[in-house]
Amino acid sequence: MKFFIDTANLSEIKEAQDLGILDGVTTNPSLMAKEGIKGKDNVYRHYKAICDLVTGDVSAEVIATDYKGIIEEGEELVTIDSKIVVKVPMIKDGVKAIRYFTDRGIKTNCTLVFSAGQALLAAKAGATYVSPFIGRLDDIGSDGLELIAQIKNIYDNYGYTTEILAASVRHTMHLIECAEIGADVATCPLSVITSLLKHPLTASGLETFLADHKKVNG
Ligand code: G3P
Repeated sequence: MKFFIDTANLSEIKEAQDLGILDGVTTNPSLMAKEGIKGKDNVYRHYKAICDLVTGDVSAEVIATDYKGIIEEGEELVTIDSKIVVKVPMIKDGVKAIRYFTDRGIKTNCTLVFSAGQALLAAKAGATYVSPFIGRLDDIGSDGLELIAQIKNIYDNYGYTTEILAASVRHTMHLIECAEIGADVATCPLSVITSLLKHPLTASGLETFLADHKKVNG
């Protein structure tokens, strides 16, 4: 499973990249706003800075919600860097735009997906990635992981090449279960990735090893 980091924070992206396990980055307008990035030029410069830090795909979300606007914005975003993937919301004009981009070899990430039907439409439009939001479904008493399993089953039935990019991943069990189900990618904050490192037996085992070594070696 590929690991993407879900942030626009450059130091977190660099830390994940330096760990040697990072396959890409996802951003969204809220994450850009959280970093205080405003104005088109600054936003585009920030995307470029992210692209310069990583080797994998970088999702940059369009703000436009009409077909013409999405196309114009997407075509501009991909001029920033070859790593840019145009992130498009799951709306009617978004699906049309994904088909347009797909036909022109432009990578897309269909975002704000909350149902299997939406994921099916994204695949049919040829999206490179589909982003079902697990945590936000859990928040409303639905089962986000169940949706990942459903999409996996549907895509396997028909051999759709759209990659399942589990998003709104909030904790390590989300990550692990996504891997068990067979999601292609999971995107999450750095803290979720680094939490995978932790186990009390690793910590106590290491402490004992080092103490025993010290007893003999001083
Ligand atoms: O990738 C989508 C993600 O940014 C949403 O996460 O935690 O705001 O639901 P969250």
